[in-house]
Formats: sequence, C-alpha cells, structure tokens
Amino acid sequence: MSACPFHAGSATAAAPLASFDVEAELAFLAEAHRGNLPDARRQEIISALQSGQPAPLTSEELTWAGRVAWRNHARCVGRLHWRSLSVRDCRGLDRAEDMAASLLEHLALAQGEGGTVKSILTVFAPSRPDRPLGPRIWNQQLCGYAGYRQADGSILGDPANEGFTRLACRLGWTPPATPSAFDLLPWVISGSDGKPHLFTLPAGTVREVPLRHPRHAWFERLGLRWYAVPIVSGMRFHAASTDYSAAPFNGWYMGTEIGARNLADTARYNLLPRVAEGLRLDRSSERTLWRDRALLELNEAVLHSYAAEGVKLVDHHTASEEFMRFLEREQQLGREVSARWDWIVPPMSGATTRVFHTPMREFPTTPDFHAQPGPPV
Ligand code: ARG
Repeated sequence: MSACPFHAGSATAAAPLASFDVEAELAFLAEAHRGNLPDARRQEIISALQSGQPAPLTSEELTWAGRVAWRNHARCVGRLHWRSLSVRDCRGLDRAEDMAASLLEHLALAQGEGGTVKSILTVFAPSRPDRPLGPRIWNQQLCGYAGYRQADGSILGDPANEGFTRLACRLGWTPPATPSAFDLLPWVISGSDGKPHLFTLPAGTVREVPLRHPRHAWFERLGLRWYAVPIVSGMRFHAASTDYSAAPFNGWYMGTEIGARNLADTARYNLLPRVAEGLRLDRSSERTLWRDRALLELNEAVLHSYAAEGVKLVDHHTASEEFMRFLEREQQLGREVSARWDWIVPPMSGATTRVFHTPMREFPTTPDFHAQPGPPV
C-alpha cells in the first residue's frame, strides 16, 4: 500500500494531437472575433498546440470558450442564459493555496449580494499529460454535506459524499463534535504538485437555506436545509484542444434538483417516508400515491424557502419553457442543439412540461464540460 493514495492514481491522458480536428476545436473562436477569426491569430494558436503548448487564448477568447461550453452542454436545461456567464481567468494559478483563495472569491461572487446568484466559471492552469493528478479540485461541488457511515450501516448525511468524507478524514479533517446530517465538507485541492491539500472553510462562507413549508409548521422541525448555489468543481473543461482539469462553474438551482433528487432519492437523503409521516398519509399501499404527495409538498417547501430567503432558484416548469426558447433560438441561428432527454426532462411531472414531448439527440461538441475520474480513494 502506498502511503498516499494520491500517488497511486491512474493517468487521464489528454486527447492525442493526431486526432486533433482543428476546424471543430477552433470554430468557437470565430464568435470571439465577431464572426471572423483572423488567419494570423488562427496560425498562432495552431502552432502553439502543435508544439504541445496549451492554446494561448486571450481572456476574451477564454470567456467565449466558457460560454460556448455552457451552450453546448447536453445535460443542462438552463442554457438560455449562456451569454450571462462571467469567466475568471486564473490560468496563472496552479498552487493549491492560491486556488483555494480564488475559490473563496468565486463562492462569494456567485452567492452575490442578497441572493442574486451569478453564473461564473473559474479557469485554473490546464492539466498536463505528465501531471494527471493536478491541478484538481477533488470535491464534486464546492458546497456539499458530509455522509458518515454509522455503526448500524446506515448513513448520516449525504450518501453521495460518503467516500469523499472518508478521504477528507484520512487527510486530517475533523468532523464537528456532534456530527449532523448537514455538515459542510472541507475542500481537497491539488495543484500541479499532485498532492492533496485540505482546506477548511471559515464558518459562514457557504450560504444556506433552512427549509420551511408555507402551510405545515411541523415541516421546519425536520431540520432540513440546502446550500444556495451548486458550484460544480469535479468536471474537466475542454476548449481549443486544451484540457482544464480544475475549472469550477455554477449556475443557479432548479427546485427539483434538491426536492425531487437530493432530498428524495432513496440513495440520497431518502426523505419521502418522513415527509409522508408528517403529512399523516396512508402508506399501506403504493396506490395511495403517498410518495407523489410527499414529493409535491417537499418541492413546494424548497421553492417557498429559497424565495423567502431571496435566493434565486427556478421552478421546473419555467426552466422547461426557457429551454424551449433556447432550442428555438438556436434553431433560428442554424445551430443544432445536443441534448439528453433523460437529463433535460425534470424528475417530477415530466409530461406536464413541453420538453417531455420534444425529441432530443446527443452528439459530441467542443468546447464542453466532461466528467473525469474522482479522487483515488
Ligand atoms: N444536480 C446538482 C445538485 O443537485 C447540481 C448540478 C448543477 N445544477 C445547476 N442548476 N447548475 O447539486
């Protein structure tokens, strides 16, 4: 056994230059240059790539790369707003300490003043084929709750983070003296040294929303909460034939992500039975539809609570209509939209939304965001 699991890691190879499709990889740059990429600029970028360098994009070009990656991403229902993305050019940063400091800024900017969530992408130094373990942010998201395995085998907190919670503990994180179902996790970041560094967030850094129901006073006593902004930090950003393995980005939440998945999935917080109990529903048979009633009330509580706290969050009906507007606009511009039906259709009341009745097709796009392997636990 190696002393540090991070040194046993598997390599994530960058795309070989042989398969480098210049046309596809650089097409987005035309948009950054008002429709026409000057030949000299194009040659400059191609030469750098051919000599094994990352694409030498300007900050302005990088901003376009980020926006087009969002516009391209097949799983995202919120793409109508792609032009509003702010991109923070932090390509000069590749030390864990510097990255952590920059992430605190990202978090503060995204959470905005008084709940106006801002969409942001922060791009750190690109990955190198010879340094597969950094730069990386090993958290799936910058905000997340610990999941502790209990003596009886059950999990306190978010089961999705059970492995990461163990990793954090191994690296020296001490959970609160009395662990709860909503303990915010520390960050595990590696810079280009490829070593994991632990960062504990100062109290009050992460904005959270306590969940209440507009008509059921007992609901608040369940003690549920969720964080304000989902900042995805585990994905790889690919643009102009260059891979950025640490490039966290955020939009704002759609209510069902929290109410119909994170808190409801049996493999997550599995709260429908407890909500049904509060509602005194008859659970003797599936045919009473107690799950559906509990799901509806839980989702109403999420929408109500975020609105009450003034934190931006979209409901699934509005998000679906916005996606249809996005599709129409893109079609008018002659761009086919890559989309995954199983991700675009909301996880409740699917057929009441127009996206359910819309055929979709996924195909490779660039720039885009991609999954990458989690921490070597
Ligand atoms: N589904 C994830 C979650 O529930 C967040 C993914 C990104 N979501 C977003 N609205 N940008 O935490």
